[in-house]
Amino acid sequence: FHLDIDPAAVDKGTYPFFMLKEIDEQAIVARNLIEHYFVNGLPQIDEKILSAIKQADRLYIVAAGTSYHAALIGRRFFEKWAGISTEAHIASEFAYDHPLISKKPFFVFISQSGETADSIQVLDFIKKEHYPSLTLANVMNSTLTREADFALPILAGPEIAVASTKAYMAQILTQVILAAALAGGHDQLQAELSRLAIDLQTVIDGQDKIKELADTYLVHADRAFYIGRAADADVTLEAALKLKEISYTLVEGFAAGELKHGTISLIEQNTPVIALISQSKTAGLTRSNLEETMARGAKAMTIVTKNLASSDDDIILPALNGEMEMFGPILEAVPIQLLAYYTSLGRKLDVDHPRNLAKSVTVQ
Ligand code: G6P
Repeated sequence: FHLDIDPAAVDKGTYPFFMLKEIDEQAIVARNLIEHYFVNGLPQIDEKILSAIKQADRLYIVAAGTSYHAALIGRRFFEKWAGISTEAHIASEFAYDHPLISKKPFFVFISQSGETADSIQVLDFIKKEHYPSLTLANVMNSTLTREADFALPILAGPEIAVASTKAYMAQILTQVILAAALAGGHDQLQAELSRLAIDLQTVIDGQDKIKELADTYLVHADRAFYIGRAADADVTLEAALKLKEISYTLVEGFAAGELKHGTISLIEQNTPVIALISQSKTAGLTRSNLEETMARGAKAMTIVTKNLASSDDDIILPALNGEMEMFGPILEAVPIQLLAYYTSLGRKLDVDHPRNLAKSVTVQ
């Protein structure tokens, strides 16, 4: 006699899918990162890493999939806080078609698994050129962490669902902390990140509303669009990827200003268009782009930070005033993940195991 226990099912606890469990863990992940990286209110990163990066004239962040989308968000922090020109690159593209590399480059690899073949190939190439490198990874005993000059953990804990959620969050936060350390500290950062962890929990706790929106807007749709500008435009890419990979909806995410240059011709009666709005400079423009789609029949949904919101908005995130609005993409991560999750669930799909996809892709 033996008991047939699926260890994975035990680990899920009361959750129907790992993805939901992992989405729900994101405030805890944020707190763990703060605890790990801050000492006396200041971000602590190995001085060797900081000085190697400070010698560089340009950062090249290389990653694949969701990790690449995290790089797009991190890039802004390296530029704005640390003042280092930074480019984010798709690993499979960089490997065969890289741009002109600056005189003193520094390479940052971002990976959940540390085993993505496309990223490893780029690391092999830049090592031959003797360029310095750092890997930010979740699995610390991996090819990318071992082979790079330096490695830092993103501390998301085991991520089981194929669609990455908490690792994406942890990759962004680790870059934020690294950028702050490069900038020579940032007095309020620990308090701000602790506040952000509370805000993340507030968004997670409000998920019934997000489920309702997924059920009305997305479960029966065959296509959908995410729009946003500035940092919100970067998030549309991850929002679209999350929704398409687990719900099999055809989704595109792009800069809202590009609508009129093509995609608006795809808007029909009831086509869902979701606007991400957390950046004050572009909030008004994104709203008028959304109205243009509504005039053509779109079913519009808004995800907005409270300071930029009105009572008509659908998902209202905690306020991010002033400089804090740089954290918009971090709060937006949760609703875009939950919309994808509840759309997939509403379609009775196997959320954790979308067809044709693998958690770690070790072929090019
Ligand atoms: C696969 C996974 C994605 C992940 C990508 C990069 O496609 O399904 O969730 O973003 O690989 O993986 P990495 O382990 O390098 O972050």
